[in-house]
Amino acid sequence: MKVTVVGAGNVGATVADAIAVKEVANEVVLVDIRENFAEGKALDMWETAPIRLSDTRLTGSTNDYSKTAGSDIVVITSGMPRKPGMSRDDLISTNAKIVKSVTESVVKYSPDAIIIIVANPLDVMTYAAFLTSKKSRNKVFGMAGILDTARYRAFLAEELNVSPKDIQALLMGGHGDTMVPLPRYTTVAGIPVTQLIDTDKLDAIVERTKKGGGEIVKLLGTSAWYAPGYAAAQMVEAIARDQKRIFPVCTLLEGEYGHENVALGVPVVLGKNGIEKVIEIELTDDEKKLLDTSAEAVKSVMKVLDDMKLF
Ligand code: NAI
Ligand code: 2OP
Repeated sequence: MKVTVVGAGNVGATVADAIAVKEVANEVVLVDIRENFAEGKALDMWETAPIRLSDTRLTGSTNDYSKTAGSDIVVITSGMPRKPGMSRDDLISTNAKIVKSVTESVVKYSPDAIIIIVANPLDVMTYAAFLTSKKSRNKVFGMAGILDTARYRAFLAEELNVSPKDIQALLMGGHGDTMVPLPRYTTVAGIPVTQLIDTDKLDAIVERTKKGGGEIVKLLGTSAWYAPGYAAAQMVEAIARDQKRIFPVCTLLEGEYGHENVALGVPVVLGKNGIEKVIEIELTDDEKKLLDTSAEAVKSVMKVLDDMKLF
């Protein structure tokens, strides 16, 4: 199993590290446009192998995609992160061009690779990679839902004073303030969460989750990387080990939930073929309205991409 991670910055390096910790792949190639940056990060991680007892071989490359040839999975994290006061959508003009050119290089050397997008604005960058790669939607999709759900689960675990391992949850929609956490599909060791927490507290956690990315940006001056990196690595693991995990993943909808031609987070089965199934769950009218609002928000950013005339 060969995995390439493009962008050796905060998120990319964490993805590579998490893959090595779990020995999900035998080979990881880190690529960055900054001279010697990926080489340095990869070397430091490789020198960690005898300590953490991992066989995953890590190498780096400054923009030389021939080193990535034959990758099974490619994670694209290259792009600007948010700074305080910026929304994810403010990143589109810079990141769309980066994602397009990186995807072209990736596909040239690894035509069969499954591509996972991380760069923001996530839903629209997933759409940009989908258009560039000309792959089917099951082979190019985006990471956001695992991260957003993890934040929601962590906040709930803290509030309820229980292990985060026991919180199961689902969250849908775009990776932005219109994301749709679904308390009705949230359980604590099988117990509906609504039996364990007051509505006010649950509502506050839902609101905090929606702004979870911004909370970290305010604290750090740049966006998060540990949880995003581990979330992307969890997707890589599900594919590499053909685990058939069910995760919220950003994919191009083809009529599911009444939407077409919009990239949106929905529950899917992830296995060796990438997205093996999009799961359609029942939504109440209110939940459906929230999802529709989220789809409209993503479409308005897709329109900005269209107006850039890159495709
Ligand atoms: P970072 O600035 O630490 O790393 C980005 C790296 O990309 C830099 O090392 C830069 O040199 C590299 N890069 C830029 N252009 C490139 C190109 N053409 N080819 C190869 N490498 C290139 O940023 P960080 O924190 O790692 O974030 C990366 C992206 O991921 C941002 O767009 C951020 O908004 C997004 N993100 C998405 C999340 C999600 O849930 N989907 C969560 C966290 C971050
Ligand atoms: C996050 O949610 C910025 O998308 C990034 O942390």
